[in-house]
Amino acid sequence: MAWPGRGRDTDVVELSPFRIERFYAQYEHSTPFMLSSSDCESRTIAELLELEPDAHGRLLECWCGYTESPGGPGLRQAIASLYERTGAEEVVVTSCAEEGIFLLYHAVLRAGDHVIVETPCYESALEVARSTGAEVSQWRRRYEDGWAHDLDALADLIRPATRLLYLNQPHNPTGTLMARPVFEHVIGLARAHGLVLFSDEVYRELEHDPADRLPSACDLYERAVSLGSISKSYGLPGLRIGWIATRDGVLRDAVAALKDYTTICASAPSEFLTALALRNRHVLLDRNLAIVRRNLPVLDGFFERHAETFEWIRPTASPIGFPASPESMTSPGTAHGSPRSASCSCQARSTTSPATSASASAGPTCPMPSDSLRRTSPTLNTATPARARRQPKAEQRVHDLRHDRVRLGGAYRRPAG
Ligand SMILES: Cc1ncc(COP(=O)(O)O)c(C=O)c1O
Repeated sequence: MAWPGRGRDTDVVELSPFRIERFYAQYEHSTPFMLSSSDCESRTIAELLELEPDAHGRLLECWCGYTESPGGPGLRQAIASLYERTGAEEVVVTSCAEEGIFLLYHAVLRAGDHVIVETPCYESALEVARSTGAEVSQWRRRYEDGWAHDLDALADLIRPATRLLYLNQPHNPTGTLMARPVFEHVIGLARAHGLVLFSDEVYRELEHDPADRLPSACDLYERAVSLGSISKSYGLPGLRIGWIATRDGVLRDAVAALKDYTTICASAPSEFLTALALRNRHVLLDRNLAIVRRNLPVLDGFFERHAETFEWIRPTASPIGFPASPESMTSPGTAHGSPRSASCSCQARSTTSPATSASASAGPTCPMPSDSLRRTSPTLNTATPARARRQPKAEQRVHDLRHDRVRLGGAYRRPAG
């Protein structure tokens, strides 16, 4: 897919097809047993409205005009309650985290920049970065190393042109979580090199042991951007609400300026329902965690019984995990995290999962990408599996006032000094 770009620095903005989304577009809503969703089991609007006594009446009174571009005050307040040092005015609501990824990358990056992305990852973390014209390096984690984070390798990847580091903790697809000293080391590296730390935290609060929870990056580092979503840990992807939270005002302004060209503002009823859900998020999280804790031993049993076919590193956070097939790992030239590892995940769903799945027809040829997975198999999240779920310079930021233009492709530049 390509369309003419208008940026000064690039002639064409190119995005490769989002392979896993194309795969899901084909099967997601017709497959009777979904074992590979990346979000928790959802709920109905009626169930959400039961969370507060007068919620039903307030929803009916919800004004369907445009909402405030950075998000309504009630929603921003509810989002800010997730953070220690980041306030409501430091939040920009987006129409899902996917929009946040698009806006943030395009606000920060342009041709000539360099960006580092933790992989394997959600595909847009790589592809949207590439679409800015920036050069992208992968900070690869490997199954053989227990999905460890190689901090020396990360330090070696940083160059003078590096502008941004994308991190995803808790991690899709492995369901693992960085230890806190590792997280702090990464933040130290970002600070030392003046990098924007783009911290995808859409699975935060679904740590299997809440004691493992990491602080939000936006609270620890002034140039970090925490990406949140109502989709995953809270299980409400149909609301299509996400957000970015950062104490860097220049960055926030740059994102807000681009958002005027994508959605302007989010959906008013979705904002209402998201604020309601976040105010009562412990009810949602308790149920979702209970489902994960119930399903994990079932999967342990499954992997034990099929030890010749699968192995995995047991997830410690999120509703997902990333099994490996020894066959793929011993194939010449392949390693986990390489293209074969993706098909392990696909086969787990389509040919050897306990349930019969319509996606079996995809079989081993399914185009699951190697370094970028949205949903992996199997998931721990389903209570009812038979349901197919439906600066350059600070003063030159955002609007280039001389030309009255919003820059797509690097409106935000590192402040001088
Ligand atoms: C790691 C990660 N980040 C972001 C997203 C996008 O989430 P949303 O549904 O809010 O667009 C996903 C969706 O699968 C994801 O897995």
